[in-house]
Amino acid sequence: MAKVAVLGYGTVGSGVVEVLDTNAQEVAKSAGESVELKYILDLRDFPGDKHEAQVVHDINVILDDPEVDVICETMGGLEPAFTFEKNAIMKGKSVCTSNKELVAVHGPELVELAKKHNVSYLFEASVGGGIPVLRSINDSLKHEKIDAITGILNGTTNYILTKMDKEGMGFETVLKKAQEKGYAERNPEADVEGYDACRKIAILSSLMSGKHVNYEDIYTEGISKISIEDFEYARALNMSIKLLGMCKRNENGFFTIVAPFLVPQENPLAAVNGVFNAINVHGNMLGDVMFYGKGAGKNATASAVVADVIDILKHKGKHIEVNLGSEKAELTSKDNAVRRFFVRVPEGEKDKAYELFGQDIDVVKRNSVHSEFAFVTDLVSEKDFEEKLWKFDSVKGYIRLY
Ligand code: HSE
Repeated sequence: MAKVAVLGYGTVGSGVVEVLDTNAQEVAKSAGESVELKYILDLRDFPGDKHEAQVVHDINVILDDPEVDVICETMGGLEPAFTFEKNAIMKGKSVCTSNKELVAVHGPELVELAKKHNVSYLFEASVGGGIPVLRSINDSLKHEKIDAITGILNGTTNYILTKMDKEGMGFETVLKKAQEKGYAERNPEADVEGYDACRKIAILSSLMSGKHVNYEDIYTEGISKISIEDFEYARALNMSIKLLGMCKRNENGFFTIVAPFLVPQENPLAAVNGVFNAINVHGNMLGDVMFYGKGAGKNATASAVVADVIDILKHKGKHIEVNLGSEKAELTSKDNAVRRFFVRVPEGEKDKAYELFGQDIDVVKRNSVHSEFAFVTDLVSEKDFEEKLWKFDSVKGYIRLY
């Protein structure tokens, strides 16, 4: 019988316990042995909870218990999670986590430490909630040269964008509703400004490159400037607006970005709505493969943590290889990326739009009366686009085309 400890009895941690309880037989069958929850670490007590007796407040009780094989870190944040994980690995315990912030910053170091101590460090739940995308990249797609990963990586923003699109409500109104329903945090900055998606694409890009992609080097834009008028134009273009995280391999390294994009309706990513996530992976031999599912939520995320527990138990006594090196990945500048842009300027800037972007720009019209000029540029580099944009007296907004 294997013994596990869960660090943090919050949403994900209690979900892990629930999965271990509810699916005990399935978990045992898959792991090849039954799995017992020996400890839960939390600052709080949980009187009346079914697992009240397993709650401890001192991490050393867990670290010093040789019976504990696997630690599930579901606390979140950098500290004390980082110290707890490091100490657990050094004590010969495998660790799995949902903590994307920690994986994005210290993942390579923790994988290396796990290798040194012949244990494993897995983090399936850190990207795409319950979607088994990291394991697929690390296992089924290991023989592929992955050229590109593009994903809707944040459930909260996808919920907000979907509501704005389908119900014609403004960003602030939808955000407030999302907060009331508990879909968005009281401080929604990490989600709406793209920081959460940035951590996730940093992890995916690191796995794709086998090196360390520092999330701070990734150009990141959120969705707070997207308006319902933008959705009217998107409909006229037969497109949808999605916050995408993207990593592409090129001859000089890798290019990564997080930003809202106009996605053509025929692209499957355009049809991913609500809190769902989707990640498209392009392999050089395989072509496109897309992973779709619940990117957030207690049970879905917990299921991914338990999948890691099982993987670890199936490989007891071995280190599970993870393609995550400490060497810094070479990221190419955003300036050279070439794409089309949708732009809105006041009506009075129309002539300048033609002057700057040429006579071939595609004019976009929406139904309601308005005094602005909207158009889609031809292919242009990010740098040239930015320079041209500065030449307008006023710009109402712009969105990249996917
Ligand atoms: N806030 C995140 C989201 C939770 O909305 O996707 C999962 O990482």
